[in-house]
Amino acid sequence: MSRVTSTPRAKSEGGILPLSWPGSKLRGRNRIAESFYNGPGWARFRRWERLFLKIQGGEARARRQILRHLPTQPMATVLEVGIGDGANLKLLPKDWTTYGVDIAVRPLGECLNLHPLMNGRVLRSEGESLPFADAAFDACYSIGGFNYFCDHASTLREMRRVTRVGGRLIVADEDSRLHRWGIGHLIGLKSIDAFWLGALGLDREFVQMVFDQPFDPGPVVSQHWPGSVRHSIWGGLGYCYVASHESEPSTS
Ligand SMILES: C[S@@+](CC[C@H](N)C(=O)[O-])C[C@H]1O[C@@H](n2cnc3c(N)ncnc32)[C@H](O)[C@@H]1O
Repeated sequence: MSRVTSTPRAKSEGGILPLSWPGSKLRGRNRIAESFYNGPGWARFRRWERLFLKIQGGEARARRQILRHLPTQPMATVLEVGIGDGANLKLLPKDWTTYGVDIAVRPLGECLNLHPLMNGRVLRSEGESLPFADAAFDACYSIGGFNYFCDHASTLREMRRVTRVGGRLIVADEDSRLHRWGIGHLIGLKSIDAFWLGALGLDREFVQMVFDQPFDPGPVVSQHWPGSVRHSIWGGLGYCYVASHESEPSTS
């Protein structure tokens, strides 16, 4: 029997278990991200994300720079936070049982279309409040999106809580300061960068959030995942923190 006991109260809708907290209204950056990933901009921007990964030696290779840190045990049960349309699933061992959460329904629907076996194992939920029992997973990972999660500390605590002692924790994303190399930032005219990022697909609120959020994950990750190691990925343009769920983090 599966040791994953999820706690959604309502019934599955089209294979996606619904938002797991009362009210279901997202706040802050999660609201902006949900609107972007559910909207037409993400479909446009995705092409550029894929190109970025291709330049890193191909999409599978770029993703494996992160996925190689997952455990090697057979029959593992793992959770992806911010699973999107499930692009990492085909790179995982076939005998693993993977669960996924995401705040945006549209990518979750695409995930189910592309991977029907995920039916009943994808949930609409914030990483900040995971609807799973303690120690339910052998590993918990998040690839892309973390820079703009509303509450990084809560997400890291939750990922750690749902992972068994000795399990693996991974969080990876691009460097959130990349836009500062845009011509507009270099010459002091940010509106130029806002324009071309918009042309690539990012909506206005999302662009503003990117400009407002030069996020350094180092301090919050080492506080909540003590002993974590930072790996540079994607030719130095991204980060990947890897930790084992072993020692106790500070409670503050
Ligand atoms: C760049 S996509 C990455 C998707 C997938 N992990 C991949 O590697 O292709 C980021 C995903 O994170 C989701 N996301 C953003 N903030 C989130 C949060 N606070 N909790 C859960 N998912 C979130 C978005 O809706 C989006 O689907």
